[in-house]
Amino acid sequence: MSKESKAYKNLPKKVYIRTFGCQMNEHDSARLKDLLVERGHVICDSPEFADTVIFNTCSVRKHAEDRVYGKVGTLAKLKLKKPGLMIGIIGCMAEAQRDVIFRKLPIVDFLCGPADLDKVPDIIDKVHDGAGHIMYLGGYKSKIIPEFSKDRRDRGRAYVKIMEGCDNFCSYCIVPYVRGRERSRPSKDILEEIRKLVKSGVKEITLLGQNVNSYGKGLKEKINFVGLLIKIDNLAHLSGEPAGSPDRWACGVKINFLTSHPKDASQELFRAMRDLKSISKDLHLPIQSGSDKMLKRMNRRYTVAKYKKLVKSFRGIVKNGSVTSDVIVGFPGEVEIDFNDTVNVIKELRFNSAYIFKYSPRPLTKASKFKDDVSLQEKERRHKVLLNIQKEISSNKR
Ligand code: SAH
Ligand code: SF4
Ligand code: F3S
Repeated sequence: MSKESKAYKNLPKKVYIRTFGCQMNEHDSARLKDLLVERGHVICDSPEFADTVIFNTCSVRKHAEDRVYGKVGTLAKLKLKKPGLMIGIIGCMAEAQRDVIFRKLPIVDFLCGPADLDKVPDIIDKVHDGAGHIMYLGGYKSKIIPEFSKDRRDRGRAYVKIMEGCDNFCSYCIVPYVRGRERSRPSKDILEEIRKLVKSGVKEITLLGQNVNSYGKGLKEKINFVGLLIKIDNLAHLSGEPAGSPDRWACGVKINFLTSHPKDASQELFRAMRDLKSISKDLHLPIQSGSDKMLKRMNRRYTVAKYKKLVKSFRGIVKNGSVTSDVIVGFPGEVEIDFNDTVNVIKELRFNSAYIFKYSPRPLTKASKFKDDVSLQEKERRHKVLLNIQKEISSNKR
């Protein structure tokens, strides 16, 4: 190592991190910030003042990737003024666009996939020492989730990852290809992390997984998601109140979770949501479409009738609970009848809120081979129709 680089390593280096995408990414960025601070970096809030600019990216829709290409492009001028400026693209898009990014954006210095983020501090040192373009990708192929989630400085609210990846392969979705196969974390690691967060003053925790209802698959211990919720609720000092005390919810910590898949959500889960004081009564249960034909093509593995039954059962069991959902419009083959089925389900089920997305073909996915036969104009129309219906329902629910 040269004298200068040793000297550089003793200086605080300013890092700016911009996060796109879902809660998983927000969580990864929060942890990465802590790791970088531990290594002597300083986090700053503008690329102008930074020595390293990192984009933690999303690939779920093309628009999310286009925004990153646009934002990084605007840094070209800054890099001309400040040639030492280091630029990194990390997260899901680093995996999805691995073959294109350096070609499209030669000003980018490193790529790092979501399962390799613990390596970012070392990558920054290597690039600084003149290593040239660096890629750390494909870590999602490992069965182990790196100890990336621990030892955080969150205050107030925090995310806790209970699993990574996804085995569902919904035909439109890129997540299994960029975050890999489903892996659950052992419950003792999750409980230890929650204990630490609560001790440091965190009052609201969101458990994260692409499909939390299949938690426990592949672990040596015999546990399912409800078993995990019971263990978490039983952490007596979550609230400082003894287990079973009626005041635990009022004075304690609130536990949320995301996301539930309708094929795996069960009455056992709903009863746990009703009975466990620290567990939130909000259920995010993406329906995606109100047409069985579309659900089949999407590989969702449930029918509209089953979904409706689930929501009714949830509402019967968790009296003061809320249900939110996701919907995709303009999926290949979606004709007016299918769309009307979705409109009718949205009107019938009256979600507290719903995210409505326009279908975006994603590389590697099964649906990318289907003809994207709904025009952009028609997708926009359907999107607007559903947004307006849902807006009305949501405002009446408040
Ligand atoms: N694992 C979660 C989140 C997946 S991504 C789940 O299964 O619910 C969040 C939402 O993005 C999905 O629910 C879906 O509605 C939407 N989405 C995913 N891929 C998409 C695509 N190719 N085009 C449009 N919307 C998409
Ligand atoms: Fe994507 Fe489906 Fe997995 Fe959700 S459950 S991450 S939509 S493949
Ligand atoms: Fe999340 Fe987007 Fe990745 S939704 S898992 S950041 S592709």
